[in-house]
Amino acid sequence: MAMPSLPLAPPFRLRARVLTPLAAGGTRYFADGAVHVDPHGRISRVADWAEASEPEASEPEVDAMTRIRDYDVRPWLVLPGLVDLHTHIPQLPNAGVGAGLDLLTWLEQYTFPLERRFDAAAAERLGPLAMRAFSAAGTTTVAAYASADPDATEVLLQSAEAHGIRAVIGLVLMGRTVGDEHGGAASPDEDAGLRASAELAARWHGRDEGRLRYAFTPRFALSCSGQVLRASARLAAETGSYWQTHLSEDPRELDEVRRAFPEARDYLDVYDRAGALGPGGPSALFAHAIHLSDREIERLAESGAGVAHCPASNLFLPSGIMPLARYLEAGIPVGLGSDISGGPGPSIFEVMRVGAYAQHALQIVGGDPRPVLDPLGWLRLGTLGGAAALGLADTIGSLEPGREADMIAIDASLTEPLPGAGSADEPAEIVSRLIFRTHPQMVRGAWVRGRLLPA
Ligand code: GUN
Ligand code: ZN
Repeated sequence: MAMPSLPLAPPFRLRARVLTPLAAGGTRYFADGAVHVDPHGRISRVADWAEASEPEASEPEVDAMTRIRDYDVRPWLVLPGLVDLHTHIPQLPNAGVGAGLDLLTWLEQYTFPLERRFDAAAAERLGPLAMRAFSAAGTTTVAAYASADPDATEVLLQSAEAHGIRAVIGLVLMGRTVGDEHGGAASPDEDAGLRASAELAARWHGRDEGRLRYAFTPRFALSCSGQVLRASARLAAETGSYWQTHLSEDPRELDEVRRAFPEARDYLDVYDRAGALGPGGPSALFAHAIHLSDREIERLAESGAGVAHCPASNLFLPSGIMPLARYLEAGIPVGLGSDISGGPGPSIFEVMRVGAYAQHALQIVGGDPRPVLDPLGWLRLGTLGGAAALGLADTIGSLEPGREADMIAIDASLTEPLPGAGSADEPAEIVSRLIFRTHPQMVRGAWVRGRLLPA
């Protein structure tokens, strides 16, 4: 079959199978649907194609000189773009190696040496490839860690700007290590990192009408002095930037955190004491959050901070299984993260698959009676869930009028069990195959604000 041509920039009208979670709950599916994207890259209409050919009073007038083109991509499926809520761009070259090591050993053996080499020249090489790898996997929003090199971080932000992806990126703050004293003042390295972070935030946070955002990024408690945690949380809150870190990932890490921060009640309290959880704190994102106590779960829910659930990483490094259903019940905003190179690749569909397997294991082996998400529930987590954790639930994450047109086109026929056999027509079955029979080439197009991303 000839490849349908894809719109490069708004405005346009897309005819496709259209599937989207709805912000108010539930899912909508149009077997022959239309998505109208206005000249500003906003969705103006989502409806059955036949119905959408009739003009609607509420649709904004389009300049009569602007010819709106129709693009028919059927039988491809159009979904909201995926949100990768946690990943490490400099770690891409290590993706898929290091399985089975505990976190602290893996960091020392694989990750820190790789990141130490990640300077501006390395970022120039990897940045554009990384952005294309994300969009080729269906990710239209990525929240990422750079390295501890400010120039490399600047280059990665430039790569995201040029590529067109929606991105949150931060310079990694790290000046302490396992076994160090953490109570004292910031080291000269840490001070330099804070200053560079403040400059990067001033230059990048909110760039291109909010497409690019900055995240103050203290790597995790064991990498930081209490002072750096406090100063970064304060700066993030003052500038409206995000504040991202790792939380409660690995049992040995937890032991070390208890030793390094004896005054804290638990791991989350290390960050709470630094002012990262409000009131008055920054928009915080915590990766992993696997081994939380009841108190930590309650405090996290009350704070409104988001959790990046990274199941593909959590079973590659044997970290544990996050009790997802419990967090959702508690009202914690949860999205999905690829966590390269703890996780083996950028596909959030693969993260959903491993997540589902892990939750089944928790049910069977761990005796958790709560139901596991169904495929449409996983899709919601990978789109609206991530958007909500970023405070962007009104802007992206679903295909609904008024939102920015961040979306992907998928050739679902590639997920059929045999070529041409066993097509799925029900939305839950279509998405089930995208998750459990993911095909590396199934994402055929990705748009941010109606602009086609290079893949
Ligand atoms: N904790 C601190 N740094 C890292 C990292 O790079 N990856 C993961 N998975 N956990 C971390
Ligand atoms: Zn991580």
